[in-house]
Parts: sequence; structure tokens; C-alpha cells
Amino acid sequence: WASLIVFDRDLSPAQIRNLETQIGLRIVDRTEVILDIFAQRAQSGAGKLQVELAQLEYMLPRLAGRGQAMSRLGGGIGTRGPGETKLETERRAIQRRITRLQQEVNQLQAHRARLRQRRQHEEVPSIAVVGYTNAGKSTLLNALTNAEVYTADQLFATLDPTTRRLTVTDSDTHESKQILLTDTVGFIHELPPSLMDAFRATLEEVTEADALLHVVDLSHPAWQSQIRSVMQILSEMPITPGPALLAFNKIDQVDAERLAIAREEFPQAAFISAHERLGLETLRQRLCQLVRYAMSS
Ligand code: GTP
Repeated sequence: WASLIVFDRDLSPAQIRNLETQIGLRIVDRTEVILDIFAQRAQSGAGKLQVELAQLEYMLPRLAGRGQAMSRLGGGIGTRGPGETKLETERRAIQRRITRLQQEVNQLQAHRARLRQRRQHEEVPSIAVVGYTNAGKSTLLNALTNAEVYTADQLFATLDPTTRRLTVTDSDTHESKQILLTDTVGFIHELPPSLMDAFRATLEEVTEADALLHVVDLSHPAWQSQIRSVMQILSEMPITPGPALLAFNKIDQVDAERLAIAREEFPQAAFISAHERLGLETLRQRLCQLVRYAMSS
């Protein structure tokens, strides 16, 4: 027997309430599932803060239904049920907490902005690593920089932006170059707008970067629609990010036919396996070119 129904949609508070009354089971919508995953994955203070904020904002309009149910228990027509008073207290408490968290998030953003300014002052070019969740961004970052970024075969393993310094010897100029690589949270299709807001600190890194590295899991059957989803979300960002390089990852798990299709459709892309460390030197050189192009345009 099912004890829970999950909708791959966002439902309004009234829809959830009505469905729960009609069916008699707990109803969970898409945003709630994503919030749950984010909550489990949040590691740093900033990540936890943002998740809690998003959860509270999600909860607030959904308190009403519970309040009505509770006040019905409270008694006759025209009287204020005890549930309603409790609801108001609860709502005020949540509102206060939201205000507090919002202030903390703002402070963190100001702190990040200062860090970014310092980086820009150093004139080290930066690349944000984007991609669908589970594409292999963290694995790639580790392989390129030997950094210890948490990787796992789980969705949304990365929540907080992690920046690493990559040193590359440019094969054209033979100069040693520094590039900052920033890991970002995994993209998914139809990211709920409320989550866009909640994770704007992470996404901000994308808009502030000089260029993007878009990692694609070529072994995934839906790789083409995943590319479109990421592009869609990027196109909705307030600031248009810089030029992007596509890197097709997990080529160790891909047959020749699919590789050929991807090569034909995306001749400019890099083809790699972060896990097997294939194609990484070529990718480093392409990142050098990307940065050169981004800084000159
Ligand atoms: P999110 O944090 O969810 O956005 O994921 P991510 O894009 O950072 O992916 P992550 O690096 O955590 O890798 C996801 C899974 O793919 C892990 O199990 C990796 O071991 C695996 N993986 C990464 N690169 C490769 C690769 O080149 N080949 C194969 N076969 N698996 C890989």
C-alpha cells in the first residue's frame, strides 16, 4: 500500500489540501522533494541557511490549510478556534526567522562579493562549471585540480560553490596560467522559481564568471534534453554569462555511435572522462583558449 503520493509538478496549497482530503494520503509536490534533497545535501553554513530559508518560505502559505482544520476542531460558527491563534503565533515566528535568515544570507552575499572583488583585482580569470545534476562536475574539478570536493553517485551532491585554482601551461604561449574553477549546484529541468531565489548565491557565481564550462553526461539517455534544460536555465539568468565550452563527460561509458552523433552536432566540444582521466590535457588547453577569448571580448 502507498503511504505517500509524489507529484512531478508544483501544486498549490489548496490543491495539496484538497487531494489529501479526497485521497487520504500525504501529498508531496516537486518543490518539496527538491527541498528535501537539498536539505540532506547541505553541508556548509551558507548552504543550510539557504535551504532553511527556502523551506520556510515554502511552508508559510501552506500553514493556512492546517490552521483551518485545527480551528474546525475549536468549535462553533463565529468563534476563533484555538488552532487559529496557534497558527498566527506560528506564522509570526516563521516570519521572524525568515527575516533573520534573509539578513544572514545578505551578509554572506556581501562577503562573497568582497571575495570576488579581491579575485578580480588579482585578475585571475574565473570559469564556472555548470551542468545537469550528476554530470560529473565535482569529479572533473577533482581530476583537474586534485581538490577534495565531495562526490557521490547521488543527485545534488554539490550545494555550495567551491572554488579551486587550476594552473595550466598554455601550449601556444608556453606561459603558466592560473584559472579559477567554481563548482556549482546541479541544474535540473523546470527548477522551481522559489529555488532559483534560494540558490542565487550559488547561481551568482555563474553570472560573475568570465566563462562557463558546461559538463554533459554523454552516457545519460537524455543527454540532449539535459543540455537544453541547462541552456534554458542559463538564458533565464538576470546577467548573460560569458562564452561557454561544452565538455562531454563519461565517454568511457559511451558507444561509438553516440560519440559520433555528439561530435557531429557539437564539433567545438571537448570529449572527456573525468573518472578515467581521459582528454583532460586537451580540456585544459581548451580552457586556456576559452579564457583568452573571454578576456579579449
Ligand atoms: P551534482 O553535485 O549532483 O551536480 O553532481 P556532479 O555533476 O558534481 O557529479 P559528480 O562529480 O558527483 O559525479 C556523479 C557520478 O558520476 C559519480 O558517481 C561519479 O563517479 C560519476 N562519474 C563522473 N565522471 C565520470 C566518468 O568520466 N565516467 C564514469 N563512468 N562515471 C563518472
